[in-house]
Amino acid sequence: MKPKRTASEITGMGAAVPEKVLTNFELAKMVDTSDEWIRSRTGIRERRIAEDNETTSEYGHRAARVALDQAGLSPKDLDLIIVGTVTPDMCFPSTACFIQEKLGAVNAAAFDVNAACAGFIYSLSLADGMIAAGQYKNILILGAELLSRITNWQDRSTCILFGDGAGAAVLQPSQGDRGIVKTYIRSDGRLNHLLKMPGGGTIFPPGQEAHNGECFIQMEGREVFRHAVNCMGEAATKIIEENGFTGDEISLVIPHQANIRIIEAVAKRLDVPNERVYINVDRFGNTSSASIPIALHEAQQRGLINRNDLVLLVGFGGGFTWGSALIRF
Ligand code: ACO
Repeated sequence: MKPKRTASEITGMGAAVPEKVLTNFELAKMVDTSDEWIRSRTGIRERRIAEDNETTSEYGHRAARVALDQAGLSPKDLDLIIVGTVTPDMCFPSTACFIQEKLGAVNAAAFDVNAACAGFIYSLSLADGMIAAGQYKNILILGAELLSRITNWQDRSTCILFGDGAGAAVLQPSQGDRGIVKTYIRSDGRLNHLLKMPGGGTIFPPGQEAHNGECFIQMEGREVFRHAVNCMGEAATKIIEENGFTGDEISLVIPHQANIRIIEAVAKRLDVPNERVYINVDRFGNTSSASIPIALHEAQQRGLINRNDLVLLVGFGGGFTWGSALIRF
């Protein structure tokens, strides 16, 4: 298909993950589970866990530095910082403001986006739109999470899934037909009860919740699984078809890394062979909004993204929220 003009392109990417590795074997000493059960149901072998004294913004800051270096920008060049996160340093100020402070990005506006695991795609969509509108030129977007902080380490049905980390990208006006071809975001608030962390807001204010598990991730695993496959499948096929492409033209799919079975079911629907689907859930588990940018950066570092490649991002998370993005590199 004839390439069309784009508004923005990714000029830098970065990621940062904790050094500490928590393997399935170690988890099996904490709850009644096994490496075999976790691997066969989720594809996860290990995940990274931050130290107790570390924060989401520290990992976001590290990822941002790598992305800025690659883009050849200084923090003072930034007009805007958008952070997708459900594990902010504090309810407010935003984690974006903490990252702004750490970077010394004194000329930027900064805010967080709460779209759970779809947070990076939502941030990308926003940033692309703002560049298209001519409002900003240099935008830093991140997905940054310390999910270990809101994980119930006694609940074997959830604690096996999650990990910590951050990923970042710099968006700038594109020079032609490479860049963000299209983004697509959706949500369905009717399903808000299936995946949530209820505590800390106005329903369960801080101080009242701690004993009842309201400050931990709560999830209806099977329902989440079913909707994740449907919604990611829809977001991926829609964006490919509506922009006149076919599955064959996609060089690499970077799906939200929640569960290998979800990823494989989505890939099957797209008719894209498994070797063109990037997977690192085995090493990092589900890092929510950070999972797509960590995978994107890793794929780039491994030389899997070449000039003119068409890359598809697709994500899904609590809300429910979901979305996709097509990027010509
Ligand atoms: N180890 C051993 N047994 C376990 C474990 C465990 N860690 N967890 C649950 N079980 C048991 C259950 O107790 C149950 O036992 P029972 O039959 O005696 O009652 C049995 O295993 C089956 O439990 P299910 O919950 O039905 O297992 P399922 O096959 O659905 O797998 C899983 C659970 C892996 C959580 C799956 O539902 C899933 O991946 N869902 C998607 C959830 C997800 O990815 N959420 C992330 C957030 S959303 C996102 O990022 C897309």
